[in-house]
Amino acid sequence: MKVMVVGGGGREHAIIKKLKENKEITSIYALPGNGGMAEDAICVNIGAKDIENIVDFAVKEKIDYAVVAPDDPLVLGAVDALNEVGIDCFGPNKAAAIIEGSKVFSKNLMKKYNIPTAEYEVFSNIEDALKYLETAPIPTVIKADGLALGKGVIIAMTRDEAINAVRSMMEDKVFGESGNNIVIEEFLEGPEVSVLSFTDGKTVVPMVSSMDHKRALDGDNGLNTGGMGTIAPNPYYTEDIAKVCMETIFKPTINAMNSEGRTFKGCLYFGLMITKNGPKVIEYNCRFGDPETQVVLPLLESDLLEIMKATTYGTLKAEDVKFSNGSAACVVMASSGYPQKYESGFELKIDDSVKNKVYVAGAKLDGDVLKTAGGRVLGVTATAQNLEDAINKAYENVNKVSFANAFYRKDIGAKALNARR
Ligand code: AMP
Ligand code: GLY
Repeated sequence: MKVMVVGGGGREHAIIKKLKENKEITSIYALPGNGGMAEDAICVNIGAKDIENIVDFAVKEKIDYAVVAPDDPLVLGAVDALNEVGIDCFGPNKAAAIIEGSKVFSKNLMKKYNIPTAEYEVFSNIEDALKYLETAPIPTVIKADGLALGKGVIIAMTRDEAINAVRSMMEDKVFGESGNNIVIEEFLEGPEVSVLSFTDGKTVVPMVSSMDHKRALDGDNGLNTGGMGTIAPNPYYTEDIAKVCMETIFKPTINAMNSEGRTFKGCLYFGLMITKNGPKVIEYNCRFGDPETQVVLPLLESDLLEIMKATTYGTLKAEDVKFSNGSAACVVMASSGYPQKYESGFELKIDDSVKNKVYVAGAKLDGDVLKTAGGRVLGVTATAQNLEDAINKAYENVNKVSFANAFYRKDIGAKALNARR
């Protein structure tokens, strides 16, 4: 069986490594993949948003099953285009991917179906938005409607910051068309939990919960990044909270999408905040999280391809998705300067003893030499019986990877360990 994975980051590397455990798969292609995953997949130089060439490649190579991992191609309709030529896929179609593609859509969906989320207003012209801000409670949160490379959310701690955020999105168009409409919403407080789930549009099966570390520096300081590390499970996500989420958020969302004629199949990611008034949705993503996947999939004991196919064909059953009782930690190693200016092209050395625990995000092959080629270079994961051991092992593994200018947070998982004390 020939499988194709669209995307090229650490998340895709984790998906590919997990898929490789399936014995039916004879070859895995990554489009475009990256040099750091060349031992695990055949990397094909086609960009993840180049849907026309992705479809041509899939037809020419007679791909049996495709996994579309990143948000952009999903929102652009990659699954629809592949389905049209008869290729089955893991991932939502365009109509369902809008749950991530438009914040206005997802906020209105939650309001219509009583799914707990922050109070909000939608604005399509700047005068109304600025007028609203004159009396809006501060802090407040400003969100661009469309995809913005994960940067379209501004937490404004003062009224001036809020005004500047609205101006930059609606006047200066820093996120392009994504800022034509904006959401201004209530600032919520509480620990954040990521819950990825598998769904076939009827059944929703949550995966083990996780915690992202979005800020660049220790102690949750510094700029927002794509994620500097993750741990699983998330200690704030207790069994009681999980039950509440299932009844008030997960099932209602799947049902709401069906009622809207937008049945969601694939991985639906619930970004949650556990507020004092209960769990609320901060965001939906129509895909696996990055770097959440790098801690969630190593704890999955069931066969990933079988689960993915079950979401596609409508045969998903909770009992077929088994996670270990252990814990996992992933430490992201980035290029110094990330998420702003950084240098690339340094030789990347990964000791053989940790190769199967390293998920490469930004690297390319220069002849036989692997070199850094991105802000986030890789994630180093470890699993263990408990979280403390997983974190310690992950940091030991970090010492077996080297490249010039490497930087990483030293406190991944510290907050989670404290939460349990
Ligand atoms: P998002 O891109 O929607 O995940 O937002 C990025 C981050 O902004 C989230 O992970 C939260 O930390 C924060 N955030 C988003 N919405 C809110 C909110 N209503 N209140 C407080 N923090 C928020
Ligand atoms: N780690 C957050 C995301 O994947 O959007």
